[in-house]
Amino acid sequence: WHLRRVLSLRDFETRARRKLPLSIFGYVSGGVERDASLTANRRDLDALAFVPRVLRDVSGRDQGLSLLGQDYRLPFAIAPMGFSALAAYDGDVVLARGAAQAGSFAICSAASLTPLERVAQEGGSGWFQCYIPGDRARIAPLLDRLLAAGYRNLVVTGDVPVAANRENNARNGFDAPFRVTPQLVWQGLTHPRWTLGTLAREIRARGMPHFENMEAVQGPPLFSRDLVRSTIARDRLSWADIDYIRANWPGKLLVKGVLHPDDAIRARDAGCDAVILSNHGGRQLDGTISAIRALPAVRAAVPDLPLIVDGGIRRGTDVLKALALGADFTLVGRPFLYAAATDGLAGLRHAIALLAEEVDRDMALLGVTSIAQLRAECPLAD
Ligand code: FNR
Repeated sequence: WHLRRVLSLRDFETRARRKLPLSIFGYVSGGVERDASLTANRRDLDALAFVPRVLRDVSGRDQGLSLLGQDYRLPFAIAPMGFSALAAYDGDVVLARGAAQAGSFAICSAASLTPLERVAQEGGSGWFQCYIPGDRARIAPLLDRLLAAGYRNLVVTGDVPVAANRENNARNGFDAPFRVTPQLVWQGLTHPRWTLGTLAREIRARGMPHFENMEAVQGPPLFSRDLVRSTIARDRLSWADIDYIRANWPGKLLVKGVLHPDDAIRARDAGCDAVILSNHGGRQLDGTISAIRALPAVRAAVPDLPLIVDGGIRRGTDVLKALALGADFTLVGRPFLYAAATDGLAGLRHAIALLAEEVDRDMALLGVTSIAQLRAECPLAD
């Protein structure tokens, strides 16, 4: 019943801020250093303006899109987010299941805490994001395992050669691999709904949170105890490894974290099926261009390559701005994790429905009945 008062994705953020300990909320919401990349994501979306069309029959609207040979009922999906099960009980499965039920998909993160087989089985997700070490001997077994588990769409994240400078994590007492810091003990006592409803349940169901899937790929230890100074030994990963993965992965292959047109060209030439334009939600290099601002130049460089865009998308208008500007699909991260964290599967369903309703209403207000029509007839001004 309380979900009736949740009118937008932002309301879930407010709820999550109250429910989650600062270390967890800070981990999810945070950026890096001066938050320049994080700020750019919103600013560049806000700077775009629609030029709507009027007096057109807009009945029978359809926001569905097809991507990589698959039809989806929604034009947005859920971005991969590590540690989801620490913010939301059984978060990886909840995100995958909620998205699939709504006719979309969630990409399971490499830094997930749930065995990837279970996410595939119970969540019905065919999408996996991996952090690959620059070490071929470890890549082949991962690809075999993913294929056996039923994954068909593989996203290789390219913008994490080293761990980012997440000062907020160090300040708030968040560490990876997960451990109980003095700050967390205090925060846990003062946030019993999270401690009992999420952490204790998670430990009871699956033991102490750990990188279930990354450990299998890279071998521990992945992070030093100090996230700020740690690197994850991915700094040798290169396009040559993408070529190798392409030759050995029969499913769809995507690279995530592309912002430069030449990298999109390289991905296309490597045989990638799509790229995800992203600055990692403003969580890696600070001071990057936003994906939305990078989009026109990348689109011009690779006219036929499917482009997925993420970063700061919070409203139906944001989804439609990205699509009108040439994106083929969009991803949304934090808001859906907040919804799962505060209200579980019901919350996530509500969040997805809110965003889908906004897209539908905005399409009517723009004077279009399909995304193809939006692109063709509804220009953006800036
Ligand atoms: C992320 N992101 C991310 N990306 C990735 O490729 N692998 C990962 O494991 C993670 N982990 C992760 C955790 C959390 C808590 C967040 C918020 C983000 C980045 C994510 O996939 C996506 O690019 C951004 O979150 C999109 O921006 P918004 O929608 O969160 O603003």
